[in-house]
Amino acid sequence: MALTLTEVASEAADCTRCGLAEGRTHVVFGMGNPHADLMLVGEGPGAEEDKQGLPFVGRSGKLLDRLMAEEMGLSRDQCYIANVVKCRPPDNRDPKPDEIAACRPWLEQQVELISPRVIVTLGNFSSKLLLDTKTGITKLRGQSYPMGNMISTTAVVIPTYHPAAILRGGGLQEAQMRSDLVRARMAMT
Ligand code: URA
Repeated sequence: MALTLTEVASEAADCTRCGLAEGRTHVVFGMGNPHADLMLVGEGPGAEEDKQGLPFVGRSGKLLDRLMAEEMGLSRDQCYIANVVKCRPPDNRDPKPDEIAACRPWLEQQVELISPRVIVTLGNFSSKLLLDTKTGITKLRGQSYPMGNMISTTAVVIPTYHPAAILRGGGLQEAQMRSDLVRARMAMT
């Protein structure tokens, strides 16, 4: 029988498929509505996420919550939020290819079980993984795509910047991210 999302989450809680298991406090599996039409996929947990066991609860997450509310009229409880890697990379370094590959089946199961209409990928790591491309986020964003190499789903993928890039950078990127979120909202209907 197929597993539920809760069952998959409890399996993932003991995951030792890669070395990131050694340094983590919590596996940050994901949170939100398991029947959501919208899924957002980030990169990996930071310090605050590792501490709380929840995705996007630090500065990036607060910005993401605000932009979603302002541009989509949605709160995080109305969607599902997950990451490419479920455990915090030390010192917030980028996740390595072998870590991404080891963690990928968890994300695939999430996508399969939630079966969202729209997946917003936040930044390079999730955009490249879900769209099976080496093209960077600056070129990818601004349009919607069918899912790349992952399990079969009818979801459309809408790549946008990672909120951390908006915090570091400029107004132009923020305006572009806002327009990507509007595109995602329209694709949900
Ligand atoms: N950045 C991410 O990519 N994911 C989080 O959960 C938090 C920050």
